[in-house]
Formats: sequence, C-alpha cells, structure tokens
Amino acid sequence: MRIYLIGFMGSGKSTVGQLLSRQMQVSFLDSDQWIEEQTGMTVASIFAERGESVFRDMERRFLLAVNNFSGVISCGGGLPCYNNLMDEMLRDGTTVYLRTGVAVLEERLKLDRHLRPLLKTEEDENLEAIIRNRMADRIPVYERATCVVDTDGKSPEEIAREIAAFL
Ligand code: S3P
Repeated sequence: MRIYLIGFMGSGKSTVGQLLSRQMQVSFLDSDQWIEEQTGMTVASIFAERGESVFRDMERRFLLAVNNFSGVISCGGGLPCYNNLMDEMLRDGTTVYLRTGVAVLEERLKLDRHLRPLLKTEEDENLEAIIRNRMADRIPVYERATCVVDTDGKSPEEIAREIAAFL
C-alpha cells in the first residue's frame, strides 16, 4: 500500500501526510527531506549550485529508491510533472491531489518565499501571477490523481480524515 500526496507548494502535503500516516499507523516519507538527507544539501542550495535539472533527476531517483516502501509519501510540488513520474505513481500507488486555491497558496507562500527557489528567483514579480502561471502548467498533471481533495477552509486533521475515508 502506497499513498502519494501531490499538489502545489504550500498545499499542506507534508503536514497532512504526517497526520495521515499517524492515523493509519504506517510510515511516512517526504521527497524533499529524503533528497536533503541523501545529498547533505538543502533543496535551495541544490537549485542554486547544481541547477533544477539535477534536482529533478534526484526526484526520479527518489521514486526508484523507495520502490518497496509502504506508507504515505509527500512529494515535492514539481515531482509529478517531470520525467513522466506521474505515470509511474499512478501505476504503483494511490495518488491524492491536495487542491488549494491561489489566494490561500499566496498567503502561505509569501511568508517563506525566500526559502523557495522557484519563487525566490522572481522576487520582483507578482507572487500571485507566478503561482497562477505555474499552476496552469501543472493542473493537467495533478488532476490525473486517483483522488482530488479540496483543502480550502479545512484543517489538516479534516483533510487527513477525508483521505483516510476515501482509501
Ligand atoms: C518545488 C516544490 C518544493 C521543492 C522544490 C521545487 C516545485 O516542494 O521540491 O522547491 O517545483 O513545486 P514543496 O511542494 O514540498 O514545497
């Protein structure tokens, strides 16, 4: 049994994933955390020093490495959108898309924009526009998920319960 949580940065994948794994008494993995542990670098420094394509390749290697893992996996926001990884996830697990509105994402992301390479590089641009543009590219991939959960106005506990009820 493997559950992949996918969705845009700031949609709550890590928080909900940890709650869900505790609720279901299964293990939990976070792709960004795994990559940081493996490389001894932060995601931001991988982007800055080695480039985005190296990071995307690490995400691909993450999925290969956790081939036998059973439990909940929180995926970095871009992971399903590169190297056909969405196809792979659909094949070997249940994918759950946490769908969050742009206004909520903007509110959350403006607080730690400086930590996020894809938002930091465009400092002068309007954050809402950056989110909207990137979302537009990603929605067709995210919406292929087995299950779509709208998160606006719900607590992480409620979202975790909703996912558990679906499973
Ligand atoms: C990214 C999302 C981040 C992280 C990296 C790239 C993206 O993860 O993997 O900064 O492309 O959307 P979170 O979605 O966990 O913030």
